[in-house]
Amino acid sequence: MPYRFAPPLSRRALLRAGGAAIAATALGGTGLAAPTAGALKAGLAAPRPVSADGDLVEVELVAKQRMQRILAEPAAPSPLITYADHFPGPVIRMRKGQRLRATLVNELDEHTSIHWHGIRLPNLEDGVPYLTQPPTGPGERHVYEFTPPDAGSFFFHPHCNTVELLGRGLAGVLIVEEPDAPKFDADLVCLVKDWQLNKDGSFGTFLTDRGASRAGTFGSVSTVNGAIEPVIEVPANGDIRARLYNIDSTRVVDLRVEGAEGWIIAVDGNPLPPRRLEEGWPMGPAMRIDVLFRAPAKAGQTLRLTNVYSAEPRPLATFRAVGPSLPNKRFKPRALPAADIPEPDLTDAPIVPMAFSATAVAQSFDGLDKAVLAGLPAADASCLSAKTFWAINQQSWPEGGHEHLPPPLLTLEKGRSYIFELANLTPHLHPIHIHGYTFKVLSSDGRKVVPHHADTVLLEPKERLRVAIRADNPGDWMFHCHIIEHQDTGMMGYIRVA
Ligand code: C2O
Ligand code: CU
Repeated sequence: MPYRFAPPLSRRALLRAGGAAIAATALGGTGLAAPTAGALKAGLAAPRPVSADGDLVEVELVAKQRMQRILAEPAAPSPLITYADHFPGPVIRMRKGQRLRATLVNELDEHTSIHWHGIRLPNLEDGVPYLTQPPTGPGERHVYEFTPPDAGSFFFHPHCNTVELLGRGLAGVLIVEEPDAPKFDADLVCLVKDWQLNKDGSFGTFLTDRGASRAGTFGSVSTVNGAIEPVIEVPANGDIRARLYNIDSTRVVDLRVEGAEGWIIAVDGNPLPPRRLEEGWPMGPAMRIDVLFRAPAKAGQTLRLTNVYSAEPRPLATFRAVGPSLPNKRFKPRALPAADIPEPDLTDAPIVPMAFSATAVAQSFDGLDKAVLAGLPAADASCLSAKTFWAINQQSWPEGGHEHLPPPLLTLEKGRSYIFELANLTPHLHPIHIHGYTFKVLSSDGRKVVPHHADTVLLEPKERLRVAIRADNPGDWMFHCHIIEHQDTGMMGYIRVA
């Protein structure tokens, strides 16, 4: 395992202090349903999902600082930045075919925008300041409107100063339900995220040179839905669809539901022929899987959600069976209805090399003295780090923020299919994300690849991975590593489809 889990705070201390009895009910169709008393006390006051019956789902997302307890007392509540009254929130649940109208209200003291991660939407709704829209300034609003073409488990987040804003909790969930999905007894959301918290509840440093030039800066405390080792209630003997999200800025996780047979049924929202969870599916930042498992037969019995991407498995949450046991039925993994993603024509597709590398600064960072770093050009503090550690095809996003747009990494011909050969020239992992498209993952030179669709793919050290798209969605589309410190220090660019 390349990375170890090493929280500066003792996990046991945290558990003792406050992680013990946080409950989130999974009944009523969502793991983020109305809070229980215990949940409120523990700060896990998840909002009700936002949804609507008609053709239009309307939601207002007010980005601002809100105090919320993550650490137990005596730590103070932490100054989160969220779109709703509580992290995690909101959870927008809509049916495929419904239109979303979301109004961002910026009550921050910096400009922002909302990027709808994983959605194949029109370029103008993609939420990248300067590239697809003017930044939404403090006190301003911006309306996004689109009809998501695919069902699945998506999320949304800002696209500037992301290292701090996402680090402080600015993200929401967007679920698009299949009209013809198999029936589950519960459908819940588990957002895995670490927080960079000091012992007193204040935030620590989100971006460090040491972290940004290597695997990233790890948070000090791990949570699910903003709670440390929460207990999530599931209907006894029920078939549970758990939408497992890695929304951390840095950490790679490989999740298990210990005590149950888990089946992966979707990746980044895209249906996957059911596959055993035990076989492993490492998820970098921004990656998601939908997992099906059977809840324990009797009320009170439990299962454990763990992260095995560490020296020893780390517990993240407990699923506890509640209520009368549902009648016995045969457990069999059911495939979700196939998505309708344009099929790339591989016979005619040019192979485009995309090389991810470290810059000289990153490579020599260990021995680099402060004077050299101080001599680097200053950056627009609101968008990017001053440092450039990474590059795509030897091009680093220039210091100075999104307003100084570099030329596109490449220009694709609209309607044509392309194979990207993603070459990781570094000894680090990089979850590579494309906006506005879903990759068809084809092959790797280093491992057997399960054919699947994804908006973010985890590149292993030194790996070459081939993915394909059909370039049918015109516009300028961001293409970057989703380890936010890597993105903010150069591993970011955009692809033009014209
Ligand atoms: Cu979730 Cu540009 O990314
Ligand atoms: Cu990276």
